[in-house]
Amino acid sequence: TAEQFQHGALSGKRVFITAGPTREPLDPVRFISNHSSGKMGYALAEAAADAGADVRLISGPVNLPSPPRVECVQVESAEQMLAASLDGVEQCDIFIAAAAVADYRPVAVAEHKIKKGSEEIMELRLIKNPDIVATVAGLERQRPFTVGFAAETRDVLEYARSKLERKGLDLIIANDVSNPDIGFNSDDNAVTLVSTATTLTLPLGPKRLLARQLIDQIAEHFHRKSQ
Ligand code: CTP
Ligand code: CA
Repeated sequence: TAEQFQHGALSGKRVFITAGPTREPLDPVRFISNHSSGKMGYALAEAAADAGADVRLISGPVNLPSPPRVECVQVESAEQMLAASLDGVEQCDIFIAAAAVADYRPVAVAEHKIKKGSEEIMELRLIKNPDIVATVAGLERQRPFTVGFAAETRDVLEYARSKLERKGLDLIIANDVSNPDIGFNSDDNAVTLVSTATTLTLPLGPKRLLARQLIDQIAEHFHRKSQ
């Protein structure tokens, strides 16, 4: 609406957002993944576009329509999500990592469907995926203002602060996923925004409302830092 365009807190800014799960293939018919719905990332993309940003949404497989006025890049694996995130990142002002990236992928992808053997127990060998948001935050030239999420089931703020530091982020959005009514698959969420100097808790609300508040906060921190 006109009211949202007037707002324009991110007018002319280029924003990349990762969203959804990744899928790590085992063979041509199987993969390892998680239950991320992509709702938070998609809501952030819509809110950022409404705030006037030029938005690229880099998404794993989800069941959501592309938000209007948002460029969508579909990926599957973490490695593909990293490549898509680095493509054009020199032009990116703000990078928001809302994706639930698989921490590990199978060491090898079988060319043909893996057959059931006679053994009762089968073991999978996994190798660590690249950390996308840490890679972006660590760029030496043209590093964007970088925002991550921390989905935790306990010691939420402590873990969030350590991730902020370890990954070299500007902001982290801490998310308590121990309550099944909020987080991952739900329409509602409650988060705390943490920077090295500030902590702000946003109350439980629909992800779309929360996304607007988060974009306002991210814009404020971004503009404060660029001054
Ligand atoms: N992330 C990422 N690439 C990865 C793993 C995580 O970009 N390979 C990003 C997520 O999108 C999120 C932030 O890092 O913004 C934190 O993700 P999370 O899974 O909470 O943290 P991890 O570092 O993977 O630690 P753990 O899962 O052990 O808590
Ligand atoms: Ca993880």
